Amino acid sequence: MASELVGKVAFITGAARGAGRAMAMSFAREGADVVLLDVGKNIEGVPYSLANESQLRATAELCEAKGAAVEVLLADVRQQSDLANAVQRAMRRFGQIDILVNNAGIAGPSGAIVHDVSENDWQLMLDINLTGAWRAIKEIGPYMVARKSGSIINISSTAGVVAYRHFAGYVAAKHGLIGLTKAAALDYAPHRVRVNAICPGSIRDDRRVEGKMLSEIARALDINQDEYESVFIQSQPNNELLAPDDIAQAALWLASDQAMKMVGGVITLDGGFSIK
Ligand SMILES: NC(=O)c1ccc[n+]([C@@H]2O[C@H](COP(=O)([O-])OP(=O)(O)OC[C@H]3O[C@@H](n4cnc5c(N)ncnc54)[C@H](O)[C@@H]3O)[C@@H](O)[C@H]2O)c1
Repeated sequence: MASELVGKVAFITGAARGAGRAMAMSFAREGADVVLLDVGKNIEGVPYSLANESQLRATAELCEAKGAAVEVLLADVRQQSDLANAVQRAMRRFGQIDILVNNAGIAGPSGAIVHDVSENDWQLMLDINLTGAWRAIKEIGPYMVARKSGSIINISSTAGVVAYRHFAGYVAAKHGLIGLTKAAALDYAPHRVRVNAICPGSIRDDRRVEGKMLSEIARALDINQDEYESVFIQSQPNNELLAPDDIAQAALWLASDQAMKMVGGVITLDGGFSIK
């Protein structure tokens, strides 16, 4: 697969840490240049710390160390103008975007029974986890259609295929992202732009990529923070959590020309969690 990404440019949202950083590093390792976008600061209403600017710069350095040319962009996927500016800068620098990974996402505010979810919390969740992906497609799609080439990868979740109690906003947004994946795939198939989704199960908070989401999901569910990993592991048929690199491997394949026939596909990468 290595040579497949040489000369390609990958645009990754939520790239400062976690799965986004793991994917950025894998794309860089396989020869792609990378555009790394993250909000880089906390967002009012999100009950935990999002990544900061220095974490985004750290991802950039890790990618540069693998030989990639890197563009770093501080932007909020809630703002169409942020994404428009980011894409213009990326296009000025590289002249093309071959791969878009819609990865930016939040796990909370969550933890309330559906009728107790406030409208603000509902809107915030949908705005980032679903509409943010649509906004990025809106900016980058036209360039891919014009070149008749591109791979868009939406990072959904097992919450995109099954429900989790007291996570209505997250579940609705991630199911919506599957709908967006299929609809965009149908629109773009004649233009040779592929759109697919990955639905990861519980991803370990790996220190190497400073991941944080699983512990935050556990906190929203009131699970003991010392034992949260074992609680999640118990629900895995294979008794293992996912590693960020597992997501990166799937994304690499979807980005490559080897996945040319993968159109509107949904990869559940969850150790068998969702087949039960
Ligand atoms: N960790 C898990 O167990 C898990 C499981 C299934 C799916 N996912 C999905 O994988 C993706 C990555 O999650 P992660 O575990 O790496 O979490 P994470 O919190 O470590 O990373 C998410 C990144 O998105 C950024 N971000 C958040 N809001 C943003 C915004 N408005 N604009 C730009 N950037 C923003 C954050 O700053 C952070 O760097 C998310 O979409 C998440 O829903 C995670």
